[in-house]
Amino acid sequence: MRLERYAIEPIERGAVVDGNVERHEAVADALLRALRKAGTSTRQVAMALPSSSVITKRITLPADLTEDDYEVQVESEASQYIPFAIDEVNLDFQVLGPSATDETSVDVLLAASRKEKVDDRVMVAELAGLKPLIIDVEPYAARISIDNIISQLPAGGEGQILAVFDIGQTATRLAVVYNGQTVFEREQPFGGNQLTQEIVRLYGLTAEEAELKKRSGDLPENYTKELLHPFVEAGATELARSLQFFFSSTPYQRVDRILLAGGAAVTPGLAEAVLQKTSVPTEILSPFQGMEIGDAVSEKQMNLDAPALLVSCGLAMRRFDQ
Ligand SMILES: Nc1ncnc2c1ncn2[C@@H]1O[C@H](COP(=O)(O)OP(=O)(O)OP(=O)(O)O)[C@@H](O)[C@H]1O
Ligand SMILES: [Mg+2]
Repeated sequence: MRLERYAIEPIERGAVVDGNVERHEAVADALLRALRKAGTSTRQVAMALPSSSVITKRITLPADLTEDDYEVQVESEASQYIPFAIDEVNLDFQVLGPSATDETSVDVLLAASRKEKVDDRVMVAELAGLKPLIIDVEPYAARISIDNIISQLPAGGEGQILAVFDIGQTATRLAVVYNGQTVFEREQPFGGNQLTQEIVRLYGLTAEEAELKKRSGDLPENYTKELLHPFVEAGATELARSLQFFFSSTPYQRVDRILLAGGAAVTPGLAEAVLQKTSVPTEILSPFQGMEIGDAVSEKQMNLDAPALLVSCGLAMRRFDQ
């Protein structure tokens, strides 16, 4: 695999709130800027919805159904789990394989989202002149990236318990993966925006200025002690607490490796603080690990940006039906 191009562009404040598109034009504008920056002629896109917009459920169905029968069965099962009228939702399913408990059955994963959530993203793509082909779910797209990393571990990661934290703007998501299964998931309200807001408050900057200066490190001398260290400590404590939840609510008693992803993963000192707090080897995850890097990509910038591209990279690697 080869990383040809990528781009990251900020979306205007308030245009997306809690994963919901509030101002379509502003989001489309960010997409257009990103496309221009990446310099790609590709117009077909895969996108993802946050898990808060999607209901997923594993169900068991007879193994000998035809594709059409599955559709009918999935619709009727779905109506039991979905708190909306079935014609208000987009519904999809995937047959996962034989059921562990019953040979004549298969496990099926169904995913449903309110049509308006999907339509919002389709509209944004179309406003930007793009052709949306796929709407996935963020944690599933992330898993494609994670699986690619795991496959490069000794023995393909067999027997290893991995904790992957996606530390974004306002939330951190933990997925614990063991032998190809996500055995635990948790979301907590911790993200890089907290540090940006502290910078705004202490130095009287706009949010945009604070964001830039946070990344460049161009801040007064007291920044490290007053803001960065407390933020990093709080983050490490939060992450360690999530692992405690994992231990106390599952039969598992250890994790072998912690991988940090999401834009805030590269916050200076965070990985070290997590190692200190948890005594678990901790690394910053790059979804591009093991890939060739194209000439259009600056490797130095990529190393800083890579963890934030966990979901995007998964979407780019995703298979799809024509
Ligand atoms: N070089 C950097 N140093 C420190 N923080 C950074 C850096 N680059 C990005 N961030 C922070 O990462 C966060 C954005 O991460 P990411 O792109 O993963 O979030 P998101 O997916 O938009 O948000 P969420 O997952 O919460 O919806 C921001 O708070 C940003 O300030
Ligand atoms: Mg995110």
